[in-house]
Amino acid sequence: MFLLFFFVFLISVPCNAQSSDDEMNSFITELMSRMTLDEKLGQLNQQQAGDITTGTPQNTDAGRLAAQGRLGSIFNIMDVQKIHDLQRIAVTQSRLGIPILIGMDVIHGYQTIFPLPIGMSATWDLDAIRESARIAAAEASANGVAWTFSPMVDISLDSRWGRQAEGAGEDPWLGSRVAEAMVQGYQGDVFASDKGTGIMACVKHFALYGAAESGLDYNTVDMSHIRMYNQYFPPYRAAVEAGVGSVMSSFNLVDAVPATSNRWLLTDVLRRQWGFQGMVVSDYASIDEMTSHGLGTLKTNSARALLAGTDMDMCANGFIGTLGQSLNEGTVTMEDIDRACRRILEAKYRLGLFRDPYRFGDAKLAKKITYCKEHRKTARRITAESFVLLKNDSIGGNPVLPLQRKGTIALIGPLVDTRTDITGSWSMAQDASKYTTLREGFERYLKGKATLLCTQGCNLIDNPHTQQAVAKGHDCQPIPFVDSDHALGEALDLARRSDVVICAMGECAWMNGEGTSRSNLELYPPQRRLLEALLQTGKPIVLLNFAGRATVLTWESQHIPAILNVWYGSECADALCDVLFGDVSPSGRLTLSMPRSTGQEPLYYNHLPTGRPVPDGTTDYRVWSPNYLDVVQGPLYPFGYGLTYSRFSYSDIRLSSSTMSADGSLTATVTLTNTGKREATEVVQLYIHDRVASISRPVKELKGFQRLTLKAGESRDVTFTITPDLLKFYNSDLDYVLEPGEFDLMIGPDSYNLQIVTFEVK
Ligand code: BGC
Repeated sequence: MFLLFFFVFLISVPCNAQSSDDEMNSFITELMSRMTLDEKLGQLNQQQAGDITTGTPQNTDAGRLAAQGRLGSIFNIMDVQKIHDLQRIAVTQSRLGIPILIGMDVIHGYQTIFPLPIGMSATWDLDAIRESARIAAAEASANGVAWTFSPMVDISLDSRWGRQAEGAGEDPWLGSRVAEAMVQGYQGDVFASDKGTGIMACVKHFALYGAAESGLDYNTVDMSHIRMYNQYFPPYRAAVEAGVGSVMSSFNLVDAVPATSNRWLLTDVLRRQWGFQGMVVSDYASIDEMTSHGLGTLKTNSARALLAGTDMDMCANGFIGTLGQSLNEGTVTMEDIDRACRRILEAKYRLGLFRDPYRFGDAKLAKKITYCKEHRKTARRITAESFVLLKNDSIGGNPVLPLQRKGTIALIGPLVDTRTDITGSWSMAQDASKYTTLREGFERYLKGKATLLCTQGCNLIDNPHTQQAVAKGHDCQPIPFVDSDHALGEALDLARRSDVVICAMGECAWMNGEGTSRSNLELYPPQRRLLEALLQTGKPIVLLNFAGRATVLTWESQHIPAILNVWYGSECADALCDVLFGDVSPSGRLTLSMPRSTGQEPLYYNHLPTGRPVPDGTTDYRVWSPNYLDVVQGPLYPFGYGLTYSRFSYSDIRLSSSTMSADGSLTATVTLTNTGKREATEVVQLYIHDRVASISRPVKELKGFQRLTLKAGESRDVTFTITPDLLKFYNSDLDYVLEPGEFDLMIGPDSYNLQIVTFEVK
């Protein structure tokens, strides 16, 4: 009888497109008035798929919790049928029939997998980034997912941190634009319409997770508020302003308090200052981890996390297990629990789950669109845009790249034959059986035109245990551990018989992403040894460096004539053929600084000046100066850098005026000309430096860019409008201000190759 009443009630819920906040509020108020404490705590409880992966929902812990109304959300199930079966249990067997929120780590695609987020940012193509998120959401939604734990927008200045792979690199302004594009792409109009497409996004990890000391994952963070506001907070805030539905707190400390229970962060900054109204989920078991941080028991920490503003507990079982007791003891109130419960129910309501709990998940549609031709085509195009050409020397008067489709080509390296690693880390829903290995892609592309010879050539790393066991732990088919001498002999033989050697090397999928810090960013020793040996053959070598972070390529830059940085993707093999053989000119640009030596990390272009500036590129050691004894100053390849198959020239910068008022604007224009022989894409970059301010300001900061494709010989004017917002910063009082005075305005192809003009704000 009660269920019947509830269904009648459900049907009377107005379409969420038209429903106002008032309607939502009264629906939730009425629903909550009927909820028991246990049912409310159940909404705050999130679990991982666990035994559902192998079993059927009915006989699993999640199924039992769902039937009792004690499961608010579950994540990482990849089966529409199972998702709907579990949802059915919640909706038909639990007392109030509240639907479950199904989440997943859809990080750079569902089954059509785009480059890692760091590679997506290297496209500098916001439409492409938005489109990749839209496709990821379409596939995920059809497969039953309502909520993705993406985008990760943590600024990361230190490439020793493996999770640099999951973000947009080192720049707050670019990171903010990427954050907006991803939120828009994922969410589409999902909150606006019942028929709308999209899924809820979750900006993470709030906050400062990318600043882990010494690049060690999960390590402590300590930072001034002024730095937080100016450098680390902007992308999270941009996601909030773009309407992101949820936020995930981070594992690290902020002002010595774990983010998970940091009230200043989760309530004062996020909600009061930025106006965020969605729900906050903890990171994986982070409420439990507070005990290891030295903050006491799970019970104490669950209460703290709730009071700070965490609404949902991911996998710590702290909210469901201890908040009842804390309520009895008076350390939390019913209002605190209600507040969190309401936010979760609001997310479900806004996603339309009360009207149609099965809104996400359509087996027929899933079959039709998951890894469909159209998605693959888009992914291939975007993947090609992400590659960054770092070096392309001429041999005998001709640049090594693009290659000709003729003669004999050797494709050598540990990544040549892998199917599971081609997509990179965080490829949760990948179906590797569908993907093309590099060997297969190149064979297909070169068929009838050139001969392809392939071999592994070397081990990925020297340690057989790690190469095998760690891969398995990451659901990757381990790259075979081969006899080094034999593999080398074969590689040299193939190279000698070829006109050119392409080496596919670097990191395999488990070498970046979570928990993959490195203390040495050079190519792994067996790979370097293979390159050294191959060089002896005298054949031109093209290095494809697969990475999810900056690699130290100092030796390679001195010896290997052509280097292309590659950031994975299910369509990587085809996209590589497009670029290597010249159908497409490379257009990616680095969104991180590539150091000359690991010891330079954290290395980033937008640093604050010191009292003793040393120009980048300085080779002589200067006494009493902030330079290293043993390395040329500055990056090997700077932020914003990348080559293409053509050349561009820039005219002088033309300012509309040399002064602007504090509420005015001015424009800066350059004429860009493609002076080469091919159509190609340039990313014109705008940087600004505040010459004199009340606090020290970065030596330069990206404040705009335009990505333009020009035919050979074509010229185009590129204009940037400078508005007060581009010149503002947080001062010592954390007020967001524009201080009048002189500013340098810089335009060029990367953060180091810049023309400078000056203007004044009066
Ligand atoms: C990661 C998050 C991720 C979560 C769920 C955590 O370990 O830090 O980024 O979303 O697991 O898989």
